[in-house]
Amino acid sequence: MKYRVLILGQGGREHALAEHLAASPLLDSLWVCPGNAGMSLRGLSCVADDGADAVVAFCQQNRVHIVVPGPEAYMVTDLKARLHAAGVYCFAPTPHLAQLESSKRFAKGILREAGLPTARAEQIDDLATGRRALAAHDFARGGIVLKADGLAAGKGVVVCPDRGRAEQALHALAAAHGFPMLLEEELAGPELSAFALCAGDAFCLLGTACDYKRISPDPYSANTGGMGAYSPCDFIDDADWRAINRIFARTLQVLGAQGQRYEGFLFAGLMKTATGIQVLEFNVRLGDPEAQALLPRLGCDLLALIVQARDGQLQTAAPAERAECAVHVVAASQGYPQADMLLGQAITLPPDLTGITFAGVSSRQGQLVNSGGRVLGAAALAPSRARARARAYERLGAITFNGMYCRPDIGQ
Ligand code: AMP
Ligand code: GLY
Repeated sequence: MKYRVLILGQGGREHALAEHLAASPLLDSLWVCPGNAGMSLRGLSCVADDGADAVVAFCQQNRVHIVVPGPEAYMVTDLKARLHAAGVYCFAPTPHLAQLESSKRFAKGILREAGLPTARAEQIDDLATGRRALAAHDFARGGIVLKADGLAAGKGVVVCPDRGRAEQALHALAAAHGFPMLLEEELAGPELSAFALCAGDAFCLLGTACDYKRISPDPYSANTGGMGAYSPCDFIDDADWRAINRIFARTLQVLGAQGQRYEGFLFAGLMKTATGIQVLEFNVRLGDPEAQALLPRLGCDLLALIVQARDGQLQTAAPAERAECAVHVVAASQGYPQADMLLGQAITLPPDLTGITFAGVSSRQGQLVNSGGRVLGAAALAPSRARARARAYERLGAITFNGMYCRPDIGQ
């Protein structure tokens, strides 16, 4: 049996996923909705995004077997239920379970119930409670982190080392996102992301990656969607791996007890603290740009695993990870992450596009131009991270557009 697959999304993560699935011996046909002009240039079939009705109709007309959404926005709608009603399998969690990402409060409740290590937190329901909680906190013993409850496009979390910044953040977050809010103790340590492909209680660990969230090496520079990543994470030991396994296993057990199977990718945002691995957050998808570093290292076929997930046959295991290291570097538009960016610039590409994934690009009179913040990225796989890093920058160096910007230190 071969499968007809539709990927939903238009970024570098979806491009990397499409390249991976395109290589599967189990694939019949692949489409990306909406995809982007760079994916079309690479020979992928892109279909316009005309809303959920059109997606369902497209799947029926083209006898699509499996839909794989990339971004979380699809998981919080009724798209999965509508596809299911039309006889199409959607590899994603239900909106209820997607609250693991869309509600910090829901995620904290699951973590507590699962007995997993995570920062102590209290819920803040209004400004008065918030002010009282801040007044009671002893900032000499450590900072706090304020988190808006819902999806906030990466802008809902503020780390506050002192009372002044905490009071400012409380008002700013309340104005932008309202209540409830979480007030967490600040943890310290290096961060990593761990990924699993899940179905019910079963999960396959796909590996780890570290991303670079700031626009420049300056740790106080602006936050972005991610300027690059490397895989695997190089600071975890066997005990950490056991902790990571337990985090996925327990989380899935507790979610399952809510009466719904979790299906889809699961991304744990983790911190290695002095007392071990702690969970900062969950996402119900792959990371972008972590996926672009993670997927080239997979020694297994994700489509085969997704089919097993669909059929209830997934076995808990760690699929073979290649020993090689991967580094992925993002090229962004001048001005990113601010709204005022230099867009519409012609992109010059080399003949060999190996390792290149496209994101914020479109076609203008047959010419590829930048049309978003994160424009494209270059990944490379090599026996050492240093070599993967050199190769990724070399690949990016063969591409030019006015205002092209990348961080110089990815994978260092
Ligand atoms: P989140 O969306 O919850 O992962 O938070 C975004 C970022 O805020 C994380 O990647 C961390 O850098 C930081 N962060 C979140 N929670 C904490 C915490 N409890 N202690 C320290 N930093 C945190
Ligand atoms: N790179 C972080 C994320 O995808 O959420």
